[in-house]
Amino acid sequence: MDLYIDTANLDEIRQANDLGVLDGVTTNPSLIAKEGVPYADQLVKICEIVAGPVSAEVLATEHDAMVPEAEELAKIADNIVIKLPCTPDGLKACKTLSDRGIRTNMTLCFQPLQAWLVAKAGAFLVSPFLGRLDDISEDGVDLVHKIRAIYDNYGYETKILAASLRHPKHIVDVALAGADVATIPYKVIAGAMKHPLTDSGIERFLADYRKALG
Ligand code: G3P
Repeated sequence: MDLYIDTANLDEIRQANDLGVLDGVTTNPSLIAKEGVPYADQLVKICEIVAGPVSAEVLATEHDAMVPEAEELAKIADNIVIKLPCTPDGLKACKTLSDRGIRTNMTLCFQPLQAWLVAKAGAFLVSPFLGRLDDISEDGVDLVHKIRAIYDNYGYETKILAASLRHPKHIVDVALAGADVATIPYKVIAGAMKHPLTDSGIERFLADYRKALG
């Protein structure tokens, strides 16, 4: 499973990249707003740090405005992937951009039929939002299972990018469900390599060694 970081913060992206296992980045307008900088400027800097796919979301909501906005974003760097919402206009824009060779990440996916249609339109990635489904007492992990089954039944090549992951168990669950990518906030990535028994084990090894050999 590929690992993307879900942030627009350059320090977090650098730290995650330094771990040596980062495959890409996802951003969205809320994450960019937290940084308080123009979207395009921040994307240039992110693409200088990470060579893998960097998702950049359009602000337009109608097909005819989405397409030129997406084409401008795509000019920023070769690794930009255009994020479009799972709406009828987003679907049409996905088809238009895919036909022009521009990769898309279809975001805000909350049900399997949205994932089916965007795969038919040639999406590179589909982003089911797990945490936000869990927030309304639905089952985010189950959505990933359903999309995986549909894609495998028909051989769709769109990759499943599990998003809105809030804690380590989400990551384990989507890996077991067959997600292709997990996009994760920095603090959850950092927590994924931690266990108290690892820390106490190191302390015990070092204490035993020092006791015996000084
Ligand atoms: O990847 C999508 C993510 O940024 C949304 O996460 O926690 O706001 O639902 P959240």
